Amino acid sequence: MKLRTLLAMLVLVGTGSLAQQAYATDCSPDLTADLLAAISADDSGKVDSLISQGACANGTDSLGKSALMFAVEKQSLPMVSSLVNAGADVKAATANVSVLGLVNQIADPSQKLSMADAIFAMVDKNGRVYFLTYTRNISPIFAARCTMCHNAQMNPATNWSDYAAAFNKKELIYNRVAVKHDMPMQNMTNMTQAERVLVAKWIGSGAGK
Ligand code: HEC
Repeated sequence: MKLRTLLAMLVLVGTGSLAQQAYATDCSPDLTADLLAAISADDSGKVDSLISQGACANGTDSLGKSALMFAVEKQSLPMVSSLVNAGADVKAATANVSVLGLVNQIADPSQKLSMADAIFAMVDKNGRVYFLTYTRNISPIFAARCTMCHNAQMNPATNWSDYAAAFNKKELIYNRVAVKHDMPMQNMTNMTQAERVLVAKWIGSGAGK
């Protein structure tokens, strides 16, 4: 292929679609039927194990309906999170059905909200998808902004360097950091607004480890 053609293609497809192609080719399409069956059976453990065996997070049935769409229909936050984390396209749509359309059809508003939170928490402003985790995204923020006052010596139950402690008090953390904004105390550690949003999104998406 001529270099100029290649460059033109790169411009056309953009880096985003290249990343998605990588997902599509790095996975095992032959596990798709098993994946869809596990989702239909609401078996999130099986879904996780199939994903770790290489099942395609963007696998679809013969009509193009994606695994993520089935998981949204099941209203299963764990399955939605696992699929998005594995690269499932949150903007997937066929002529008749889309991921976000299905979220909006959920009758129970609280379920709808947490599902949408889980999906949106994982999409940044450039449309890149990622999964907020305590280890990757949140513990560095807590270490910089909270540990000075919240540590094992002060009180193990409010030691935010410990995932279990932070998870147990996630509603309180949400309230103080993202609603009342009275933590960090007098913002002595200069927590930024962007960090507050990340903490809120992490809690909104289930406060995963
Ligand atoms: C300068 C010290 C200081 C910093 C920094 C600080 N806190 Fe606190 N925090 C306190 C003190 C003192 C209390 C107990 C009094 C209170 O609840 O207001 C507290 C209480 C809390 C509580 C209530 C715990 C409970 O069980 O009632 C939460 C939640 C909390 N902090 C979250 C955070 C988070 C998250 C951070 C970092 C983003 C943070 N704090 C940073 C001093 C601090």
